Amino acid sequence: MSAPNDAPIGVFDSGLGGMSVLRELALRLPGEDFIYVADSGHCPYGGKSQQQIIARAVTISDFLLARGAKLIVVACNTATIAAVEYLRANYSCGFVGMEPAIKPAVALTRSGVVGVLATVATLSGEKLHKLIDRHAGSVRVVTQPCPGLPERVEAGDLAGVETRALVERYTAPLLAAGADVLVLGSTHYPFLRPLIQQVAGSHVRLLDTGAAVARRVDSVLSANGGSEDLHAQRATPGTVQWFSSGVLQNFDEIGSRLWGAPVSATALP
Ligand code: DGL
Repeated sequence: MSAPNDAPIGVFDSGLGGMSVLRELALRLPGEDFIYVADSGHCPYGGKSQQQIIARAVTISDFLLARGAKLIVVACNTATIAAVEYLRANYSCGFVGMEPAIKPAVALTRSGVVGVLATVATLSGEKLHKLIDRHAGSVRVVTQPCPGLPERVEAGDLAGVETRALVERYTAPLLAAGADVLVLGSTHYPFLRPLIQQVAGSHVRLLDTGAAVARRVDSVLSANGGSEDLHAQRATPGTVQWFSSGVLQNFDEIGSRLWGAPVSATALP
């Protein structure tokens, strides 16, 4: 990495979901500038082929690097599973990806059953199955694809009838199998946490990986391959620049609700 310390950190997702990761990043690293790309014009990634997802990840990474990003966070489980190895092999910049919280879920379960909610593409990726093989031990890990859920978050419908019906349908087999821990394996799902908790019941623990990714980014900035530290050096608070490939008005309206403060996006070129 040769970008200067005060260069921004690039963050991208198939849409608004990665804001759940950006929130943790901004909390942990308040002095950093971020560029967030919501690829809402191509959301969902969950039903796309690996080649299609790699093509989007390359386009967005090129954009972020052209704007001087010193590090890129792939704030999307689906894009991480499909594309992070390709990105690491083809760019000299560092990439931090998502890893569904299988290991902490296995440590936490009392019933011996863990449920994983994720996209079709994430669940069909070899990477996730390796993670399960490595960490599950005697714990049973039951997976559930959730088509349609990212679109509900993109529409800003976090608790309506349609969203509730999907959450009920997708959690039912996991709860019936006896899961007492659910892994939120997409960055869109933390926005549905209150609804999922209500449907699953208070005895079920919900785990996501946003805070762990923020810790990882912090340590990557410190280590930087053992040479100089790459944290921002300015005394002023960091900023976020927002870009979207979708309808900008949707981003501004729904993104502001999810972020909890007014945000406004520029069109992704
Ligand atoms: N936010 C993406 C993830 O973390 C999923 C949404 C999609 O299917 O595009 O997997």
